[in-house]
Amino acid sequence: MNQVVGLFPTPIMRVERLLGEDLIRHLVPEVTASRTIANAKSDRLSHTEIMSPRSKASFVEASALINPKLVEFGALLFGENLDWSIKEIWVNFLETGGSQSIHNHANSFVSGVLYLTPSHPSANIVFHKSLGGADFAFKNQNENVRFGPYNGGKWAMPTIAAGDLVLFPSYLLHEVPTNRGNQRISVAFNAIPARLDSFGYAINLS
Ligand SMILES: [Fe+2]
Repeated sequence: MNQVVGLFPTPIMRVERLLGEDLIRHLVPEVTASRTIANAKSDRLSHTEIMSPRSKASFVEASALINPKLVEFGALLFGENLDWSIKEIWVNFLETGGSQSIHNHANSFVSGVLYLTPSHPSANIVFHKSLGGADFAFKNQNENVRFGPYNGGKWAMPTIAAGDLVLFPSYLLHEVPTNRGNQRISVAFNAIPARLDSFGYAINLS
């Protein structure tokens, strides 16, 4: 009998409908009233400034729902229930035809996106394994190839509904392809644990 072990997998968590319709109804007018800055690469994408999670009453309410999920997701990454907090939060307005180029989030351990509207499938978040390095690359990609977890280089979230939360490790590269649907509003954030301890070699974060 064959045994195949998926070594060192990367967790991504989707929490379905974390936000109820009432909270979404409070959040949308609050965030749409904020001043926005156009994205450097897509003029159909704009962002609010980076804010404190305590800057709006609805952020405080949303953070209270997100925090237990951060603890759960953080336990997958670090093997322990740690004291997690959101350190910054901002809002993205993705219009029809807009996209977000590939990037990851520096100085953070867990990043997340909370969807305030449905996401058209064309604009669902796509995660990438890597962009390559400074070495020559060899690949087998053609019409006969079946892509799976071991040979695939990218993966798109299959479904996203309004109220959903998606959590991922901050180092993971991600992008949003061109939105072929209506305006999509999402709240993004970065989170850190209070402390990491490796047999006494500890680091405190705040
Ligand atoms: Fe991002």
